[in-house]
Amino acid sequence: MAHAISVERTTANKAKPDASTLVFGKHFTDHMFIMEYDAGKGWHDPRIVPYQPIPLDPAAKVFHYGQTVFEGMKAYKTPGGPVLLFRPFKNLQRLNRSNARLSIPPIDEDLAMDALKQLLKVDEDWIPTTEGTSLYIRPFVISTQPTLGVNPSESYYFMIILSPVGSYYAEGINPVTIYVEPDYVRAVTGGVGNAKTGGNYAAGLRAQEEASGKGYSQVLWLDGVHRKYIEEVGSMNVFFKIAGKVVTPALNGSILDGVTRDSVIQLLKHWDIDVEERTISIDELVEAYRKGTLEEAFGTGTAAVISPIGELNWQGDKLTLNDGRTGPLSSRVYDFMTGLQRGAVEDPFGWVTK
Ligand code: COI
Repeated sequence: MAHAISVERTTANKAKPDASTLVFGKHFTDHMFIMEYDAGKGWHDPRIVPYQPIPLDPAAKVFHYGQTVFEGMKAYKTPGGPVLLFRPFKNLQRLNRSNARLSIPPIDEDLAMDALKQLLKVDEDWIPTTEGTSLYIRPFVISTQPTLGVNPSESYYFMIILSPVGSYYAEGINPVTIYVEPDYVRAVTGGVGNAKTGGNYAAGLRAQEEASGKGYSQVLWLDGVHRKYIEEVGSMNVFFKIAGKVVTPALNGSILDGVTRDSVIQLLKHWDIDVEERTISIDELVEAYRKGTLEEAFGTGTAAVISPIGELNWQGDKLTLNDGRTGPLSSRVYDFMTGLQRGAVEDPFGWVTK
């Protein structure tokens, strides 16, 4: 199906930030995509317009009940090279799974893909090309109906905004210290933990703030029922290398089905490294550490790609991994994944889209 997406170009291009000063998610490009939904017309009026604030009624449901979902992906470009996207359909499919969970009407994934490609064309100059930089893509849906009843909104916006970014962490792939959170939980099975919705991130802030007060970068989330099984790290999926095997928590309904997570699992299998998706308890980790078989741990996500874990604090005990340095597997996975995304290594999976 052809989609008529109108384009209104800005008459006031913004100054682009210097690539060497880029941080995560602070600068936004000249244009954005927006379309609207109402019960009569469905999704309609897809358009690219100058980046601008959106007027919303103070009663809009999103402000009160958090009926909203988002996605995150990245576009890469080398000087003179094509614009590359990494498995973008996976993200659009997940957007619709999140929509379904949040009672938001589904979006035509082909239309969203067209919109994204056209928006990238319009703002192509904004894609930074230096090593470690990319254009972060943030599609999202908000509920706009201005009524305070607790029921699904009858109107929505779907938008895509773009942000030139540097490495998620200041020095690229740098081990982070992690506080294993004994009290707060991120999500429970049956809740919305496997949907990419704002509330999950809001729910994590307090624990993150307290961990930060104790000198830790992020928290390791345990399950909400037993406070025993590992779920995620910060806003990322988590992997451990124990006695030569890689393990990651199985998707149980409260864990986000990460695109990087899935890619790393497939990559490890491609490399003939044993990888298991199963429940992992904190006790198993501590025991492996005591035996000297807990070799490495790392988080995976779109924003940071791979984030090695240098230390875990569990109830005051400090577990230092790989002497607090980036382990060889973390480096190998990081180099391959970022190389693939930038078009610098051959893509045996067909994941990179021009
Ligand atoms: C990611 O790792 O890509 C995330 O989901 C974090 C994002 C919310 C900044």
